[in-house]
Amino acid sequence: MRVNFPYHPAMKPATGPDLDALWMPFTANRQFKQAPRLLARARGMEYFTPEGRRILDGAAGLWCVNAGHGRAEITAAVTQQLESLDYAPLFQMGHGIAFELATAVAALCPPGVNRVFFTNSGSEAVDTALKIALAYHRARGDAARTRLIGRERGYHGVGFGGISIGGIVANRKAWAANLIPGVDHLRHTHDLSRNAYSRGQPAHGAELADDLERLIALHDASTIAAVIVEPIAGSTGVLIPPKGYLERLRAICDAHGILLIFDEVITGFGRTGAPFAAQEFGVTPDLITMAKGLTNGCVPMGAVAVKQSIHDAFMQGPPGAIELFHGYTYSAHPLACAAGLAAIELYQREGLLTRAKTLSRTWEDAVHGLRGRPHVIDTRNYGLIAGIELEPIPGKPGARAFDVFLKCFERGLLIRTTGDIIALSPPLIIEPQHIEEIFGTLASVL
Ligand SMILES: Cc1ncc(COP(=O)(O)O)c(C=O)c1O
Repeated sequence: MRVNFPYHPAMKPATGPDLDALWMPFTANRQFKQAPRLLARARGMEYFTPEGRRILDGAAGLWCVNAGHGRAEITAAVTQQLESLDYAPLFQMGHGIAFELATAVAALCPPGVNRVFFTNSGSEAVDTALKIALAYHRARGDAARTRLIGRERGYHGVGFGGISIGGIVANRKAWAANLIPGVDHLRHTHDLSRNAYSRGQPAHGAELADDLERLIALHDASTIAAVIVEPIAGSTGVLIPPKGYLERLRAICDAHGILLIFDEVITGFGRTGAPFAAQEFGVTPDLITMAKGLTNGCVPMGAVAVKQSIHDAFMQGPPGAIELFHGYTYSAHPLACAAGLAAIELYQREGLLTRAKTLSRTWEDAVHGLRGRPHVIDTRNYGLIAGIELEPIPGKPGARAFDVFLKCFERGLLIRTTGDIIALSPPLIIEPQHIEEIFGTLASVL
């Protein structure tokens, strides 16, 4: 199957790509290949299709291009890095830029969270964090703490660890018999009956954190290693934490010696109005997973930042012993490090780590302006994030939102949908006129 238009300006129409060989992730492959949606170029807030049609990016790609597309500073840094040191191993060797990026990431984290392990994706960051949590208790002589607690509707990537502690049924059911053992789940926090149309954090639901007490009563705290949650759940359709919920989770973990992991793969790097949601919500976890915005999305990279006390617990044996038997060929890949350092510099220079706060009122008003449109049953927001929940078509879950996705794309807007929820997360360089355009297009499509 061929597409009959050039997917790159240099290609002639007849030489469009053959679509057959690529098995696309999280995609209805057969449907897509019947009517492909291709992107060819990007700049700032915009994508362009192979035919040159402009598409406004309402999703920062996939929650990652926080500084906007095609940033010259990142391009220059990566190009220069490629020419000077293209690849170097990080096993028993080091390259300066890896240490520099770890220092820069640690400086953005909450106080005390200052040791950084690099991975290549959010999924790897999650599995790494789970492994560190388990090995940490063992290193301290508390090896019975082997249980991991996730949350219903959580998304933590697609590794076996991530889908096991994750709570999205479609991502789990095909592998149900092979998920890692010793995992339990908290209840999710979504409650439209009490919290529909909340602006910012919903008022009701802090008590849902007490579900952790229920699991502690069932399993005993001495068997539980860690709890992992997304501060704002993204992939399941934007669930903002109820007021007081994260604080309560932190207090219960503290009372029982359980580590708290925030998966900040989508909330990191300014999305909520602070460098991390941890600072925004005033709750410091023991470990933070991150990816996406770490390099502005342009070179794959993830990381786990941990409290120094966790790191130091591993540094007790003989100095010649490897402390953690874990790592990736591409941990701290030089190109990713160059992109990461350039991205963080841009974020800081342009105030992007707090810009979501400046714009959040305009954003919030625009989001809630969709209230009352056909099929809309909830609008919710935080920082530069929005969730718009639609009434499903009976018997066809997800079809209504996917139809909106297709129509928005036809009208020049990229959104993301999951189930019947529209999720918006534009680049943080967004201007008020883009906000107007996004919600104008959405309103007309709805
Ligand atoms: C909270 C969270 N964790 C983990 C991941 C997985 O990241 P990746 O797709 O880079 O493996 C994602 C991806 O969207 C995410 O939103």
